[in-house]
Amino acid sequence: MLKYSTILFDLDGTLTESGIGITRSVAYAYEKLGLPVPEQAVLDRFVGPPLVAAFMEYAGLSEKEARHAADVYRERFSQIGWRENRLYTGVAPLLKELKAQGCYLGIASGKPEIFVRRIADHFGFAQYFDAIVGIHMETTHADKHELITEALNGRSIAGAAMVGDRKFDMAAARDMGLRAIGVSYGYGSREELAASGADEIADSVSELREILLPGVPVSPGRFISFEGADGCGKSTQMHLLAERLRERGYDVLCTREPGGCEISERIRELVLDIRHRGMSSECEALLYAASRAEHVRQVLLPAVKKGKIVLCDRFLDSSFAYQARGRELGDDFIRQINAPARAITPDRTLLFVGDREAVSRRLRSGTQLDRIEVEGDSFVRRVYEAYEEIHAAEPERVHIIDSNRTIEEIFADVCADVDGLIG
Ligand code: TYD
Repeated sequence: MLKYSTILFDLDGTLTESGIGITRSVAYAYEKLGLPVPEQAVLDRFVGPPLVAAFMEYAGLSEKEARHAADVYRERFSQIGWRENRLYTGVAPLLKELKAQGCYLGIASGKPEIFVRRIADHFGFAQYFDAIVGIHMETTHADKHELITEALNGRSIAGAAMVGDRKFDMAAARDMGLRAIGVSYGYGSREELAASGADEIADSVSELREILLPGVPVSPGRFISFEGADGCGKSTQMHLLAERLRERGYDVLCTREPGGCEISERIRELVLDIRHRGMSSECEALLYAASRAEHVRQVLLPAVKKGKIVLCDRFLDSSFAYQARGRELGDDFIRQINAPARAITPDRTLLFVGDREAVSRRLRSGTQLDRIEVEGDSFVRRVYEAYEEIHAAEPERVHIIDSNRTIEEIFADVCADVDGLIG
């Protein structure tokens, strides 16, 4: 049984951490109007309440002046400010889960509706909402009551809650008979929320989750590995993806192999050290496997269990490509020594494949090569062929990304692929 079957959310300070874009645009308006720009604490108060009212209250403007100030604000906000934004960590999986449980979800925001929609589309959360409501440009005062009525779209207030970070959200919810749930991680304080009648207050997104979905266990996250020959550009793509997913409200962990935790990082130093050139292939393979066993146990399994999106620069496939094939130790040996790593399998592996010559050139232009990178052409060829085989054997899991393109083009493919997996 759902505790709330209808949940309306405020946007700024509740779903999105939009302060930077808003306060910079407010400062821009003050400057352009020839007013002294107030300190940050005053600028912060503009996040949440209706803009015209805020300019009247905090800048002491008349309604006509405040309307003009709001127009100036929008010059910057509509160009740059709306993108200086991110979802709070954990919001995306929470919305997804509420939707999956059959909740009716709405946004009732005091921001112009075109921006609310633009933000919801850009940051990928429009898909979870049944109603997206903001003010219309010509309105001066965003009346939260009207916004709530519109977002309810005829639904009963029985089992309905409004989640917000400011007094306006709490007061309107109380007036209209909705449960008022305050979030103190936004732009209003716990005191403000309590004084304006919040029924419950969450200090974090996970506390909010506990209020909205009491006792429902967190769904496991996702494990995505990045593979390819040395110098294929996968690490750059992994970090770009991490940033994008974080902006979109996911809890992301970036890690790597060999490494990712203390013991495994020490093994990394050992195994990649150019001074250990004479290391036997068996010892090398066992070190990679030891590092992986620890990483799986200490980092990967717990993170996925907590609902995180785990991005890992190389995983087990690397040992099949480099040790089983590159070093010609054979698949069986690698399978056996990596038995502990079988506790987890990537939900998706992005395999970066590019022009072998270009990759070698890029590598040779680097200053310090590690033990693996100094290997010759036949080793590299075997690694390439192994990756091709790995892809052919598991095309569902292993997706090829053509890395012979610009960073932006490659990234567009990476995003499309990952959105399909986690969206
Ligand atoms: P790294 O500097 O991370 O290289 P890259 O950016 O190309 O990933 O070094 C990792 C090296 O270790 C890389 O040359 C591949 C090798 N390696 C293996 O040979 N077997 C393995 O199981 C793993 C995880 C890595």
